Amino acid sequence: MRKNIVAGNWKMNNELSQTETLISDLKKQTKTSNAEVMIAPTFTNLWHAFEATRDHDIEVIAQNMHYADSGAYTGEVSAEMLKSVGVKTVILGHSERRAYFNETDELLAKKVDAALKNDMRIIFCFGEELSDRKSNRHEKVVESQIKNALFHLSNSAFKQIVLAYEPVWAIGTGETASPEQAQDMHAFIRKTLANTYGNDLANSVSILYGGSVKPNNAQEIFSKPDVDGGLIGGASLNAEDFYAIVNAF
Ligand code: 13P
Repeated sequence: MRKNIVAGNWKMNNELSQTETLISDLKKQTKTSNAEVMIAPTFTNLWHAFEATRDHDIEVIAQNMHYADSGAYTGEVSAEMLKSVGVKTVILGHSERRAYFNETDELLAKKVDAALKNDMRIIFCFGEELSDRKSNRHEKVVESQIKNALFHLSNSAFKQIVLAYEPVWAIGTGETASPEQAQDMHAFIRKTLANTYGNDLANSVSILYGGSVKPNNAQEIFSKPDVDGGLIGGASLNAEDFYAIVNAF
């Protein structure tokens, strides 16, 4: 059975005291939906966030990791380090990592393998640019991003994978994919999974939508049959807005 998930990607926002305040505000909110709730603070605040949510059902997750276990990789963080501060889930392949830090499908495949080797769950992000959509290449682009980074995996590995479709043109722009555009792409992704791994697996993988999800559009997007939740940027920095989205199921 696939799960509904709402994950807040805080990106490079919130230093320690802001993290404390936001978590304390989040803990005051009431959850009325069945969605799993996750937050992804920056690396320096993961341990604090983990401690602060010990008595709560918010899961603290990471925004990125390196593929090596340890070694001479100045400035990087490994799966082992994440696990040692309680993190069990990592976001990989975010379009900002792909665009600003040159993360390629090949590199992401290595990160995926490293996360799985460490028994971590992965929220794997992908999505097309505006030019791809305008030239009607969006499905091809998404298909190749997924295939190149994930299709070397066994069926059982997909138990650890959550997919997140985030069209680049909708991230931080206030422009959302329409619920129909999101549904069409999610159905395409599921069909792509089914073609290689079979229907049972395709129907068991949660597919999140990300890109300007807000309290006023979440319900319509989440009502689509192949949309299992959201990866939320800007609106996850406000506790009330974030829980309005969590409760939109
Ligand atoms: P916004 O919700 O700010 O558009 O960001 C989406 C995103 O990139 C989540 O990973």
